[in-house]
Amino acid sequence: MIGKRVHVVIDRPLGSVHPEHANIVYEVNYGYIPGIIGGDGEEQDAYVLGVDEPIESFNGTVIATVSREDDVEEKWVVAPDGVEFSAEEITKRIAFQEKYFKSAVHTEGSREGKIEIYSRLPDGAKYVRTTVFTKEQELVDEWDDIDERAKHFLLMDGKKPIATCRLFKKDDTDIYILGRFAVLAEYRRIGVGRRMLNEAEKYAYRMGGKCILLHSQCSAENFYAKNGYSRVGGIEYEQGRPHVWMKKTISFS
Ligand SMILES: CC(C)(COP(=O)(O)OP(=O)(O)OC[C@H]1O[C@@H](n2cnc3c(N)ncnc32)[C@H](O)[C@@H]1OP(=O)(O)O)[C@@H](O)C(=O)NCCC(=O)NCCS
Repeated sequence: MIGKRVHVVIDRPLGSVHPEHANIVYEVNYGYIPGIIGGDGEEQDAYVLGVDEPIESFNGTVIATVSREDDVEEKWVVAPDGVEFSAEEITKRIAFQEKYFKSAVHTEGSREGKIEIYSRLPDGAKYVRTTVFTKEQELVDEWDDIDERAKHFLLMDGKKPIATCRLFKKDDTDIYILGRFAVLAEYRRIGVGRRMLNEAEKYAYRMGGKCILLHSQCSAENFYAKNGYSRVGGIEYEQGRPHVWMKKTISFS
């Protein structure tokens, strides 16, 4: 996501005090990126550098990511378009908060291969679904209103979207439904599908989910079976293709 243009809403402006830890005073503007979900299931947090006064919102470019060895969260660092900071400079400017974690600043490359989670259907997911379901499989009913409430997982290879799936909670249960799972043909059978599945399962688990349910095309049944899913019930036809319901109980330590 380095190089990505984003909109940041600042809820902790420069000079403000952390709501729970009075020893942390924000030395830079800090906020979140609406529509992008971070590792903790909340909207993605971001430091804004290069602005020396308290602000309410900011448009800029992601110049670095901050990983925390001892935390599931990753932070992003955003700066005005075209403005660069070295990793050392960034480390110094965000130390007021990051010194409490084992964190590392990454400015190199695009961190290619990270699966991003979106609360709105991103263009990349539309591209993958159109390529696989509409063009390759010639299905017609691709878009529905579940897209508006689902979380969308997207994997890029550099600037190219290559895999997607969506996940949503089944009414008031602890079951999550996974669907619209697609990997571009040229990226199949190299483990991309398994990584996506694992990421979606981890997310559902973090959200309190106990089980994943999915309506598999029969042609993909063995892919899911290899990943711990079992059949529930018999074959049904959806859009003229044979499908089967499959489920898996999820648990991570
Ligand atoms: C089904 C799909 C998502 C699998 O993705 P993928 O990236 O190729 O899967 P992976 O490479 O991670 O495969 C993981 C394992 O499953 C196996 N596998 C993958 N697709 C399989 C299939 N269709 N049938 C049987 N086994 C399959 C792989 O060989 C691998 O096995 P291994 O661990 O023994 O090596 C992908 O083929 C796809 O997008 N298909 C078209 C769209 C589709 O049908 N989506 C499913 C809708 S329900």
